[in-house]
Amino acid sequence: MPRFDEGRPEMTPEEFRLLRDHVYAHCGILIHENMKFVMERRLWPRLEALGIQDFGSYHRYLRYDAQRSAELEAAVESLTTHETYFFREPAQLKAFREELLPVLEKRNAHTRRLRLWSAGCSSGEEAYTLAMLLKESGRFDDWDVEVLGTDLSRRVLTVARRAEYGPSALRATPPDLLERYFVPAGVNRVRVRDDVRAWVSFGHHNLSDVAGSQLVPRSDVVFCRNVMIYFDLAARRRVLGVIRDRLCPGGYLLLGHAENLLSLGADFELVHLKGDLVYRRPELPGGEGR
Ligand SMILES: C[S@@+](CC[C@H](N)C(=O)[O-])C[C@H]1O[C@@H](n2cnc3c(N)ncnc32)[C@H](O)[C@@H]1O
Repeated sequence: MPRFDEGRPEMTPEEFRLLRDHVYAHCGILIHENMKFVMERRLWPRLEALGIQDFGSYHRYLRYDAQRSAELEAAVESLTTHETYFFREPAQLKAFREELLPVLEKRNAHTRRLRLWSAGCSSGEEAYTLAMLLKESGRFDDWDVEVLGTDLSRRVLTVARRAEYGPSALRATPPDLLERYFVPAGVNRVRVRDDVRAWVSFGHHNLSDVAGSQLVPRSDVVFCRNVMIYFDLAARRRVLGVIRDRLCPGGYLLLGHAENLLSLGADFELVHLKGDLVYRRPELPGGEGR
């Protein structure tokens, strides 16, 4: 018999395990034992919306109901954080602009093509930031440039495609860049300028879906920042395999500052820039490999 707490049934340890494993298998996000209460609180509105009385029945719904895949998205949505903003982690972006962009300009001079991937892009601020930095550098103006932003959550992708933002998303944006790359879009809102938007596109993609990742075009640089902090080691390994596969040989991977690959083996080389540490997929033996 479920015990009720603040009007909602308590999740039994077995129900917690089943739900946690289900979320983990879907997207690699690992919910720790001490997050049981948080999980209960966040999922309870889903049970209420569906008229379901306890978490065991909710788990069966997620497994067997015809609506299970939409409901799993809703459950994951309520359990994940989408915190992001423009020009997040400025020291890393400076290193990217000053040290990596010149290398990429030289490397790709023969194709005049550049592909960036913001993996786990949330509501799009990171992908647009990268496009703005490319514009700022003045190096790629007449190149074929694409910045792809992907995320597991369709809700944040809708925001990303709309490209309209308020003060919180802009809190770290330098005023001159705010002036240059945004246009007014109503009270306290701005929209990313069209020429920046033209370089950026968004798609739904689950980084844990190894087969589906084949559809992601090969990139010169992948930003996967503040995504894998929620994954355990096995899920991180899986996702890093995907990213490595979707990077051009010699391409770069930039992680968030709370993340590193120290325990993850030799699939990437560590590159010491003056302003940051980044990772690189090794070149193929005997050539550029492109
Ligand atoms: C905290 S936000 C980081 C956004 C941005 N990269 C940044 O650093 O500002 C993490 C994003 O990762 C996404 N995410 C989590 N697991 C994912 C997965 N398995 N596949 C794709 N995206 C995922 C979440 O939906 C969320 O929008």
